[in-house]
This record gives sequence, C-alpha cells and structure tokens, in this order.
Amino acid sequence: MAPRGSSPFDVDRIRWHFPALREGAAHFDGPGGSQVPDTVASAVVETLTSAISNRGAVTPAERRADRVVLEARAAMGDLLGVDRGGIVFGRSATELTFHLARTLSKDWGPGDEVVVSRLDHDANIRPWLLAAEAVGATVRWADFDPATGELPVDVVEAVVGERTRLVAVTAASNLIGTRPDLPAIADVAHAAGALFWVDGVHATAHVLTDVPASGADFWVCSPYKFLGPHHGVLAAAPALLETLHPDKLLPSSDAVPERFELGTLPYELLAGTTAAVDFLADLALTDPSRSRRERLATSFAALEEHEDSLLATLEPRLRAIPGLTAYSNAKRRTPTLLVTVEGRDPQELRAALAERGVNAPAGNFYAWECSHHLGLGATGGLRMGLAPYTSAEDVDRLATGLEEICGAGG
Ligand SMILES: Cc1ncc(COP(=O)(O)O)c(C=O)c1O
Repeated sequence: MAPRGSSPFDVDRIRWHFPALREGAAHFDGPGGSQVPDTVASAVVETLTSAISNRGAVTPAERRADRVVLEARAAMGDLLGVDRGGIVFGRSATELTFHLARTLSKDWGPGDEVVVSRLDHDANIRPWLLAAEAVGATVRWADFDPATGELPVDVVEAVVGERTRLVAVTAASNLIGTRPDLPAIADVAHAAGALFWVDGVHATAHVLTDVPASGADFWVCSPYKFLGPHHGVLAAAPALLETLHPDKLLPSSDAVPERFELGTLPYELLAGTTAAVDFLADLALTDPSRSRRERLATSFAALEEHEDSLLATLEPRLRAIPGLTAYSNAKRRTPTLLVTVEGRDPQELRAALAERGVNAPAGNFYAWECSHHLGLGATGGLRMGLAPYTSAEDVDRLATGLEEICGAGG
C-alpha cells in the first residue's frame, strides 16, 4: 500500500510509486526523460499481455485496441486543454515536426518566410530549415539575449513580416528553462497571417498546459518527459488538421486525426500515456469526483509550488560556488538549471556527481543553436532539472556534491 499523504503534495507518497528510485540515485536528468511510475509500467504490460489486434469493432481484441487509442486521445486532450479529436500520435516530437513541416511546406514557395528561434531545441529548428530549403523559402532567426536568457516579443516581431508563413518557438527551453511569452508571440504571428508552432516538450512536464490560451496552432510534446513512455504527441484544432494533407499510404484512413498517423500505433505506449496523465492528475490528492482536467489544474499548481520551493534552496547554493556561471536567468522559467564552472569540463563534473549517486548530465542536449549562442559551443554545460519525485534530500545531495567537487563551502 502506498503511504497516504497528509499534505496535498506528498513527495514520499509520489516516490513510493517509482520503482527506479529504489536503485538509489538522485535524478536530475528529468529534462532528458523522467522516471516512470508503477501504474504506467503496469498499463504497458497489461496492454502487451492482453488480447489485442488492430483497431476495429468485431473482436474484443479489436475493441481493446480502439479503446486504448480513444482513451489516450482523451487523456492528452485533458492534459493539453484541447479537443481530443485533434490529438495525433507519432514516434517522437522530432518525427512529428518533420512530418508536419513536410506537410505545411507543400504550399510554401520562394519569397515565403519561416521564423525560428535560437532558444529552441534543434527539433524545432532543423525540420523548418530543411523544409524551407526544399521549397526555396527564407528562414528568419529570432535571437534570445544570452545574458538574460529572455526571448523578447519585439525580437520576434522584428523578423515577422507579411510573407511569414509559420513562427516556431519553444514553450520552454530544455537547456536554460526560459518560458517565452507565447500569447504575445501568437498575436504577432497571427497578425501577419502566419501559423504558430510551439514545441511544448520541455514545458508540458512543469506547468499546466492550455494550448488555446497559449495561442499555439500546433503543440508538440513527448510523454516520456512527463512520467510516460517514449512516443510523441501533436495537438491542433481538428478544423485546422482538416485543411492539411500529409503524405500517407493509399489504404490508410483519411480521417482526422488518423491521416497524420503513419503505420500502426504503439497501443501499449498509448495505454502508458493515459496512465501517466492519470498519475499527474493525482499528484496532489484531490477530490476524485472532479474532472481530470480540474484535478490536473490542482496537481500542476501543487507541482509548481513543490519545484519552486526546491529550486529556492538549490539555486542559491549553486550560485555561491566560486567560478560557477548559471545560464538560467529568465524571469519566467522551468526548474532547469544550466551551469558551467571555470576551468572544469562539464563532463568531468557530471562524472564526479555520478560517483556520489547524482544523475545530472552534461552537454548541449540538442539545443545546438542555444548552446552556441550562449558561447558554450557543442560542449554545453551541466544541466540539472527538477521533477515531481525530486526530494529535499536529492537537492541536498546535489548541492553538497557540487560544493565538494568544486572545493566550495565549509
Ligand atoms: C524542448 C525539446 N524539444 C524537442 C525534443 C525532442 O523530443 P523527442 O525526443 O520526442 O523527439 C526534446 C527532447 O529532449 C526537447 O527537450
């Protein structure tokens, strides 16, 4: 039996559900992929060990496959605040972005423009660059300020024009955590008649997503960043998806959203994703009679409070380490810290932390342009991210470890 928590967000109760944590490491590698609760693993196993076939209505096996897909669309609809009929599943956020970039650019041509930002993961840059190149369209870059980590709206506005067809910006940087002002950027894009594509992969794990309120026309995310299995999700209004015609096999369904889904869906992973959304909805013990979306809202508010309070302990201790530079400086950001320490290779710091049972990876994390714009090249820095299962003991182990490694403190 899981311990019953007394506070709305009981980290001990939450941690009890993560078998991986019993191996003993303190995990700050969540931005690369979170650990997974037992309920998610069980849902995957149950789906793989139950009779299942392709989606259909005749046999129980067909009906199970159908139910799994519809339940996962409903769960993701609740998590993102969107119509479940506009939820598309794919292999990964990267694959979905390439797929839709190919689709959207079918009616772009020379003189058309696409706007990308240097704050972004390469998954929200390269697909647009390659799609633009293939049709002779022009790429315009929006640069963030490396000192503050901010991507000001007027910087985006300056590169949006009447030929802009699409603006692609992250909801949060996976390297430094910055959360740009999406509704304001959406207004700029829409005023120019452009579509607004948002990479929600990093943000969706930390704050309650409301796609319509963000102004995004498209939102991609990846359940493996928010306690679920490894696949990708795209959300868009069904009416918008109806206007698009992706490459697809002739006999496969031409309905929305199915026509965007290439090949047979990974049913077991979709069942895991539904379980992950249910787990997120119950992070803070809320009234089970409330809707899942309402419970998600309460749980994410409690999660933000939990992560903020841990960050308030961790950040000052790290910033006090002599020679340490912190790059996560934006006003609004996720609890993800990127640092370097003068004269120390980030990989060496990461290895020394690993010896102390602290998992905090180093690199550029495919935020290639961002890392270069920060002056960190391909090397990047040491990245530490908080997750729902992060405890005060984890934070202390990380901070003490880095203080010792860097010869700081008493
Ligand atoms: C912000 C961001 N965007 C995109 C991706 C790529 O996601 P996927 O692995 O689902 O392609 C990542 C993965 O780290 C990410 O952090």
